[in-house]
Amino acid sequence: MDILKTKSEMQEWSRNKKKGSKTICFVPTMGYLHQGHISLMEKGKPLCDELVISIFVNPTQFGPNEDLDAYPSDIENDLALARKAGVTAVFLPDKKSIYPENFQTEIKLQYLPKFLCGKFRPVHFAGVAIVVTKLFNIVMPDIAIFGQKDYQQLQIIRQLILDLDFDIKIVAGDIIREKDGLAMSSRNAYLSNTQRVSALSLSKSLNLAKKLIARGEKNPVVIKNQIETFIGTFPETNIEYVSFCNPKTLEDIDQIENQVLLAIAVKLGKTRLIDNALIDHPSQ
Ligand code: PAJ
Repeated sequence: MDILKTKSEMQEWSRNKKKGSKTICFVPTMGYLHQGHISLMEKGKPLCDELVISIFVNPTQFGPNEDLDAYPSDIENDLALARKAGVTAVFLPDKKSIYPENFQTEIKLQYLPKFLCGKFRPVHFAGVAIVVTKLFNIVMPDIAIFGQKDYQQLQIIRQLILDLDFDIKIVAGDIIREKDGLAMSSRNAYLSNTQRVSALSLSKSLNLAKKLIARGEKNPVVIKNQIETFIGTFPETNIEYVSFCNPKTLEDIDQIENQVLLAIAVKLGKTRLIDNALIDHPSQ
């Protein structure tokens, strides 16, 4: 497994592979890898000749009061996990290499960041868009894999690919969960014992909604009220949003028909957790 620390090393590595007609699959990450990340690598491994991951805690996607400085890191363990997953190269840049002095460019999508997490994290998706664009230009992959766990991010990347004419196929990976249902996240490491129990309120709410929708409930407000009451019974929970929306546009819906996205964000102390599910109405 090659470890590449500068942009030029990474670009040269990819150019050489391409000269040899090798295809490249890419999984961008911020490290502190868990089974959710690994599942994306396992999904990508059979799709291309080379499997590249990046580990970079991207400062531009964190707001001023967010957890950039506290973001967990364990590079040695990450590298061991990547090696085991069959990764052929790890791009491990430092901040200066990605954002040299006098860096000026912004990428702003007009609509998709207005909803869900974007409402609460105003700089987040512009930061994701710029770093992913840069990583695509540096790694030059044929395929890139993103998790459904960050559903809004996935939709934004799909739009970015269309808008900026990237010749990259985007593949989505399912949400990987702990045995008890909690969606895996590097941020789960922040949770106290009480908060870890309260964290289950998210996946349990998704199950509650699935049940109500399977029984024929079509009114999102009715389900939303039940979910908010349910989450409120868990200690230390602070709901950011519970949203039923159109899976493509992310706009709120007023009637549950066809497929809907239910997305939830809850703060537990300082830790912000998200989860979501695509739910089909039984009439479909
Ligand atoms: P990070 O949070 O490290 O996530 C990297 C990738 O892993 C994302 O595509 C994310 O959706 C996926 N992932 C995280 N938890 C998952 C889970 N439980 N199941 C399946 N996939 C999961 O997302 C980012 O980093 C950054 O925003 C990044 C795209 C790297 C840009 O900086």
